[in-house]
Amino acid sequence: MSQAVDEIKIGGVGASRKRVEDNRFIRGKGNYTDDIVLPGMLHMEILRSPLAHARIKSIDTSRAWDIPGVHLVLTGEMMATRNLAWMPTLSYDTQAVLATDKVRFQGQEVACVIADDPYIAKDACEAIVVDYEPLPVIVNPMQAVAEDAPVIRDDKENQPDNVIYNWEVGDRDGTDRAFASADLVSKLELHYPRSHPSPIECCGSIADFNRATSKLTVYMTTQAPHIIRAAVAMVAELPEHMIRIVSPDIGGGFGNKVPVYPGYVCSILASILLERPVKWIEDKSGNLISTGFARDIYLKGEMALRKDGKILAVRMHADADHGAFFSDAQPSKFKIGLLHSTFAAYDVPVAHLTARGTYSNKAPGGVAYRCSFRVTEAMFFQERMVQEAASDLGMDQAQFRAMNFVRDDQFPHRTPFGFLTDSGQYGKCLDVALKAIDYDNFRQEQAEARKRGRLLGLGISTMTEPLGAGNSREYDILGIKMFDSADLKVHMTGKAILRTGAKTQGQGHETTWAQIVAHELGIPAEDVVVEEGDTDTAPFGMGTYASRSTPVAGAAVAMVSRKIRAKARKLAAHLLEVSEEDIEWELGRFYVRSAPDRGVTIQECAIAAYSNMPDGMEPGLENTAYYDPPNLTWPFAVYIVTVEVDPQTGVWDVLKMVAVDDCGVRINPMIVEGQIMGGLTEAYAMSNMQFITFDAEGNCVGANYMDYLLPTAWETPGYELHSEVVTPCPHHPIGAKGIGECAAVGGPAAFVNAVMDALSGTGVRNVDMPLLPDRVWEALTYHRDVSGAPPVRSDD
Ligand code: CDP
Repeated sequence: MSQAVDEIKIGGVGASRKRVEDNRFIRGKGNYTDDIVLPGMLHMEILRSPLAHARIKSIDTSRAWDIPGVHLVLTGEMMATRNLAWMPTLSYDTQAVLATDKVRFQGQEVACVIADDPYIAKDACEAIVVDYEPLPVIVNPMQAVAEDAPVIRDDKENQPDNVIYNWEVGDRDGTDRAFASADLVSKLELHYPRSHPSPIECCGSIADFNRATSKLTVYMTTQAPHIIRAAVAMVAELPEHMIRIVSPDIGGGFGNKVPVYPGYVCSILASILLERPVKWIEDKSGNLISTGFARDIYLKGEMALRKDGKILAVRMHADADHGAFFSDAQPSKFKIGLLHSTFAAYDVPVAHLTARGTYSNKAPGGVAYRCSFRVTEAMFFQERMVQEAASDLGMDQAQFRAMNFVRDDQFPHRTPFGFLTDSGQYGKCLDVALKAIDYDNFRQEQAEARKRGRLLGLGISTMTEPLGAGNSREYDILGIKMFDSADLKVHMTGKAILRTGAKTQGQGHETTWAQIVAHELGIPAEDVVVEEGDTDTAPFGMGTYASRSTPVAGAAVAMVSRKIRAKARKLAAHLLEVSEEDIEWELGRFYVRSAPDRGVTIQECAIAAYSNMPDGMEPGLENTAYYDPPNLTWPFAVYIVTVEVDPQTGVWDVLKMVAVDDCGVRINPMIVEGQIMGGLTEAYAMSNMQFITFDAEGNCVGANYMDYLLPTAWETPGYELHSEVVTPCPHHPIGAKGIGECAAVGGPAAFVNAVMDALSGTGVRNVDMPLLPDRVWEALTYHRDVSGAPPVRSDD
């Protein structure tokens, strides 16, 4: 009889193990960057530009220097003497650290003060006098490409206009031919508005340069510590082995904490100059106005359709507003990394996409907020187009999707833009969701409600997301190939420490990585401590964003555990005095094939690794794995929501929402559900209430939490989650696919489609997000589309 340990009891894969990190979080014992206090530490504050576009005529810092307690005032001019006024961005652009010639967006960093405390530093910032000469302002791509548009990036050679890139992908001629043969062409235009990840904790850093050891330690809020170490080595020209980046607990990242921000660079330079630790903690409005915006893309699409409902081709154009600096982090091969992830789940024979990126006088944008390569915009547009196409055809929207899905027997499947998807059960997920929402009954109820003047709507959204960058053949950041790592040290007593190149920001890696070790080795998860985020101890990795951790670092955890198991097998053979070939493995134990009762546990092997190794064997039970995935993982989901819209006010309420997510094998079902609920809540917020925009002068409107609303438990709807569809990833060692972002990616279209469905029959084709009551009311009352694009002139 098997003597294997019970995987669920030891907290292995499939166990809804409670999150170990919550022990400290719910006791208020988390250790965030702002909790760190170092001896002799000074504080830095940033002076930001009030104007969106202006020439700097002069900066007078004399009054700031005179304030007692001020140690240093940094300006762009001073940074320039050290070649640090500008820094390279992750997209091969340059970004001003502190402005020298011009300010290019409201909130841009102009000067920094380092003082004994943050209040003195803030007062001293206010004592700095900057003489600005205002310049014309650009707040959208249409203005950016106008003939008389001022050139925002006149600092760059070979930049005669505001266009960053023109890019195309797909088969232009084939798409044209398919459109020529179509029975019907369905068109849609919309704007996916700017949004902000707004993590509870803002960005910040504490730089600590020690002249005696020449070592620079930076505690900071980064999702990618090793990438930051490389960037600091390049920008500050410090030797990489003398830089230690520590990312302690992070209060939410969502992509906001991937880029390099000027505050990091200034605190590092200040610490080097002053030889004292310098802390910079961004305030809430600084975070909302200047860091890590996402989206802001104008989309035009056309779908060529046969009258029986078959999609023949898709043609799309995107105008992406990147703000003043093209600074977002993304693999270099994907300039926009945007709509070419569309239609992966649909069997679309041919497609063509053009994309243009432009500068504007807005804070740098384009951060992939809880999404992989901007797949959020892609899936939103795809599912909005699909709904409009179904209604143009007069077809049921569920049936239209089902007939165009890639079938289970079509994998591996090449998408129209060249990705290779490998697994999924799209039709089954849709069936489960339709049953859960009681689709047919709802349609009847909706029709009857209509007769009584009540507006009910149902929105379907599906999503498939390319998760797990990379494979190193296709993905890199600044030339560094994308892979990830895990380092496992099993101690003599069978307890272990695991370190990875990922960096958790609340996703629960400390819990789930230990579960993978338990699954592979039979060591109870509670005996494995997980550490991430310290470049002096963690193996080199690319960090956590784009839901890449499970597909890549999680796979590395499985692979390093297998390396440990391979060595433990040799130790077991030695202990059992048989040859390795005679040994079998069951969870937690090796035994002799011909005598199953004769066995040794993994813990006994661990003791032997330090006390009773065979002759010639290297002592210890430790190893490192670097994992380069063969492909991305492709989770799939269907979200369906029903709503009621009040025709008098435009207010809409969610009646029911169901989510069917297939992320392959679930390591920790409870954590997966938490990820889905969080994503759906962000999707609800984006579609319903989060409003941040810019007026014609480039003033950021809505950069406060009275306007940019974070949903509380009060307004957040309930969700019904379904986990019955599981399609393991064929190339991931434990069959897992990423999940962290799926619901935030696929959710918004479900809400918007539901409201648009309630508005059906009015002739309204689109209302841009957020679907605020006044927009919905305007659409209902005047039977017209409502655009959310920022105004072009000040009197608009
Ligand atoms: O990269 P990030 O951690 O943001 O995203 P992820 O890899 O999708 O993982 C989010 C959380 O869900 C982690 O704690 C994962 O280990 C967990 N997860 C899981 O339990 N099962 C899956 N199939 C995928 C993720």
